[in-house]
Amino acid sequence: MARILVACSTVDGHTRTICRRIQGRLEAAGHAVTLRAMEEVGATDLAAHDKVVVGASIRYGKHRPNVVAFANTNAELLAGKPSAFFSVNIVARKPLKNRPETNPYVRKFLQQVRWKPRELDVFAGKLDYPRYRFFDRQMIRFIMLVTRGPTDPSAVVEFTDWDRVEAFAQRVSVM
Ligand SMILES: Cc1cc2nc3c(=O)[nH]c(=O)nc-3n(C[C@H](O)[C@H](O)[C@H](O)COP(=O)(O)O)c2cc1C
Repeated sequence: MARILVACSTVDGHTRTICRRIQGRLEAAGHAVTLRAMEEVGATDLAAHDKVVVGASIRYGKHRPNVVAFANTNAELLAGKPSAFFSVNIVARKPLKNRPETNPYVRKFLQQVRWKPRELDVFAGKLDYPRYRFFDRQMIRFIMLVTRGPTDPSAVVEFTDWDRVEAFAQRVSVM
């Protein structure tokens, strides 16, 4: 049984939903899991847990700057325990961009940080046009038009492969 910290960086909540699924899987395996918003996690939380998982979504090409800052500020602490990172983005719905090695945002993140997570993954996110502000909706529709995704402004589409999320949680369980 390990004490596992799951830190979650989300804007519209989908990454939190993924974090909760991971939490459920880990708890079913007998671990004690703390799920926290990235903004609330500090060095004390890191020290109090045996393993760390960070999940973060992409907006306009970037993970939130506090995710990069967290990884670099706590690089030494993170190096001292098993850790895992996953990114959530819509580009990952494309088969050629849905692996950590082929997803541009995961690759960029790893270049930005001194952290070397033991486990890595990337999950396709959720489109929720009705929820977005007008500007964001138009921007995402344009990106979807160019990349051949859904453009219907009433569309809500979840691209996440939940089996893959479960498999990731299983790797975290034994890492
Ligand atoms: C305003 C906005 C900008 C986004 N920009 C990108 C992007 O640049 N690349 C990408 O792959 N996905 C992009 N997405 C898709 C999100 O990563 C996806 O919806 C994800 O599920 C959001 O997770 P969250 O609800 O945890 O924030 C964007 C979504 C929104 C609403």
